[in-house]
Amino acid sequence: MIFSVQAGSPLECATPALIVGCCATPAETPLFEAFNTALGGVPARMYESKEFTGKPGTVKVIHTLGALPAQRVILAGVGDLKEVTPERIRRAAGAAAQALVAARVASAVSALHQVAPADGLLEASLEGFFLGNYRYHCYKTKDRQDVVLGELTALLSGTDDIDRITRQAYAVATVCDAVRMARDLVSAPGNVATPVYLAERAEEIAFRFDMKCSILEDNELTQLGMGALLAVGQGSRHPPRLVALVYSGTDEEVSPVVLVGKGITFDSGGLSLKPGANMEQMKRDMAGAAAVLGTMQAVAALKLPINLVGLLPLAENMPDGHAYKPGDVLTTSSGLTVEINNTDAEGRLLLCDALHYAQRFQPSVVIDLATLTGACVVALGHNATGVMGNDPHLLATLLRAGESTGERLWELPLWEEYGDLMKSDIADLKNAGGPHAGTISAGWFLKQFAGKQPWAHLDIAGTAWEEKGRHYLPKGATGIGVRLLVEYLQGIASPSAPSIA
Ligand code: BES
Ligand code: MN
Ligand code: ZN
Repeated sequence: MIFSVQAGSPLECATPALIVGCCATPAETPLFEAFNTALGGVPARMYESKEFTGKPGTVKVIHTLGALPAQRVILAGVGDLKEVTPERIRRAAGAAAQALVAARVASAVSALHQVAPADGLLEASLEGFFLGNYRYHCYKTKDRQDVVLGELTALLSGTDDIDRITRQAYAVATVCDAVRMARDLVSAPGNVATPVYLAERAEEIAFRFDMKCSILEDNELTQLGMGALLAVGQGSRHPPRLVALVYSGTDEEVSPVVLVGKGITFDSGGLSLKPGANMEQMKRDMAGAAAVLGTMQAVAALKLPINLVGLLPLAENMPDGHAYKPGDVLTTSSGLTVEINNTDAEGRLLLCDALHYAQRFQPSVVIDLATLTGACVVALGHNATGVMGNDPHLLATLLRAGESTGERLWELPLWEEYGDLMKSDIADLKNAGGPHAGTISAGWFLKQFAGKQPWAHLDIAGTAWEEKGRHYLPKGATGIGVRLLVEYLQGIASPSAPSIA
């Protein structure tokens, strides 16, 4: 999206569409009387008839027919003035962006952030627009939506510092580009986005943003003893890979944060085959890897003064004459042995070898992201990512980053007792813990490989995909994790920043 900032009055702005924030009561809405008079009383009439309520996320398009220099006014509801938060503005902007895409409007001016005198609203509104206007239509040869909101101007008041705001806006656009890239990868079909394909995308991004990238193939994985990652991939014609991206933004003595993302490019369940209904959704099972790649891209583009490593264990989980089987015992690279009781609990197997590999970077923190368990969707639905870990401070910091980005987290316990679920009669562990506490038993399994440094595990099974389409999450891949992790890493880069302190 082409983006600019400009000072001026909303009432004098010539544009195909002018977006204004509206509160639940007209009296709280800035410039309401001026707009209402110019538009012949239509906005007041809409409030009276409850056609428009100003509730958060509601949108109404009014054609001005020459009554204002703007061709359309887009009323975007933000609710009660004193309850306006960045997330509300993000959602209002996302809803407005979707209305503009539906109306095939390509260019707009936004005064949405001017609705309340709070910090961070301009950035939040830009995020909402950049994310809400996203469409994945590269495989449509007909009926392709050829008009999407492609040009946006943020309208500032005369007293705003345009240089500072422009810099902030570019940073927001950079992060949103990375979210959109992650969405593209998650939406890509499984026949295209294979392990080798994702490794190549990672290599390209590393080249563009000046990062190191190594791609480990079968023989190296064998030498490293990654029996779990290799087993998951061995039933597929598409061989597994382990990608390591290294970003150096500060002195090499500073120990890095290591991010690990589950990259199952298709999860059929393997020989413990999933039911047919909705199996196509399992192309999304690499959303953790996409989030790590997106975060690496954003951090490198922003040149954050930190060291960061991204690990992407990549495999396809398929049934085949050569596939791993229930009853098999695998030896992982850490030396721990795992008895397989369900080949559909494959994500933790990839991750355990990648988490062990993370130790060679002597990390200060390790964070993994994975579409790991259906149980997490049962527990938390689509509004929260499940989080577990071994360090209260890291968890508290991540929870705060979740609140400020709108990518919210909810903690589940990882008490030792849950380990009883993962006991095997013949090996150190088994890989599936049965029907109870499925998200926690998976987290407990990962903990055995996570090392002593602070570690957090994010189960994004319920948040990686939006089923219906709402506010800044159009139907499809959400790109979850990128904004959350960038916010967290920005906090490490400047520890005094008030949003993280
Ligand atoms: N990729 C799935 C988890 C999943 C399910 C993600 C639904 C998104 C939506 C994972 O590999 C899996 O199959 N987990 C099993 C674990 C069980 C066999 C212990 C599950 O959740 O059923
Ligand atoms: Mn599975
Ligand atoms: Zn899976």
